[in-house]
Amino acid sequence: MGLEFVRQLLTDDAKGTVFATCRSPAAATDLQALQKEHGDRLHVIKLDATDESSIEEAAKEVSAVTPCLSTLINVAGVLQDQATGLKPERSLRGISSANLQQSFAVNTIGPILVARTFMPLLSRFGKDNEIPAKLAFLSARVGSISDNKLGGWYSYRASKAALNQLVRCAGLESERKKMGVACLLLHPGTVDTDLSAPYQGNIRDDKLFTRERAVRQLLDIVRGAGMQDNGRFIAWDKTDIPW
Ligand SMILES: NC(=O)c1ccc[n+]([C@@H]2O[C@H](COP(=O)([O-])OP(=O)(O)OC[C@H]3O[C@@H](n4cnc5c(N)ncnc54)[C@H](OP(=O)(O)O)[C@@H]3O)[C@@H](O)[C@H]2O)c1
Repeated sequence: MGLEFVRQLLTDDAKGTVFATCRSPAAATDLQALQKEHGDRLHVIKLDATDESSIEEAAKEVSAVTPCLSTLINVAGVLQDQATGLKPERSLRGISSANLQQSFAVNTIGPILVARTFMPLLSRFGKDNEIPAKLAFLSARVGSISDNKLGGWYSYRASKAALNQLVRCAGLESERKKMGVACLLLHPGTVDTDLSAPYQGNIRDDKLFTRERAVRQLLDIVRGAGMQDNGRFIAWDKTDIPW
């Protein structure tokens, strides 16, 4: 979905500058192709969500280009990883410290460090503006504790639930300190990506969104959001998800 966000941000708004982050810019051939097409409007920057110094370096690179950001969307997330053997746990027996740590590193700790590090750039945009800056995070409905009727997927569910709590705190702080930044937690629906591919068996065709559709729906929410939406956990259809 990250690449699709970049595509739509570049084509929907013919003027804005977009910063796309990824772990290996040299290997990101799709981003390189977009850069050829859009020139200076797209900056591709290295960022590994599990490496605090790379988050700080990325913020420095962005600051060298612009003093403020109107929107930041945290898309990075992990459910399974062949390289480390991470997979969604079916039972308590599947729990391991390594799996929990990897899930929290990518889904929880990375995104909130990104929020901390980039907040000054967002606040500089939103503070004296009628429209707030938007700080959005891809969460997931399965991170809802009250909606959890099936169990399983321990690390993924817990890491998204923890992300929700951290972002809720950031939203409340933004409001109290009048930072002008609306913090949003987004559930995209089930989207046809590498992450969901092994689990699409029971999903009806009309409930499996293309990346193009999912991102269009989420950008519509992000663009339309005001401070009244700050701290909400919102599904693709604009309904609130219970915590
Ligand atoms: N697909 C769904 O149905 C669904 C449903 C609910 C929520 N979500 C959430 O939506 C977000 C996007 O998921 P997706 O479906 O687009 O999955 P995806 O295709 O697997 O994309 C995940 C992205 O996260 C990046 N990433 C992983 N570890 C990273 C790290 N340490 N630092 C920086 N980036 C890292 C990956 O980069 P590489 O390309 O380099 O691996 C990849 O671009 C995730 O947060 C996911 O939890 C997805």
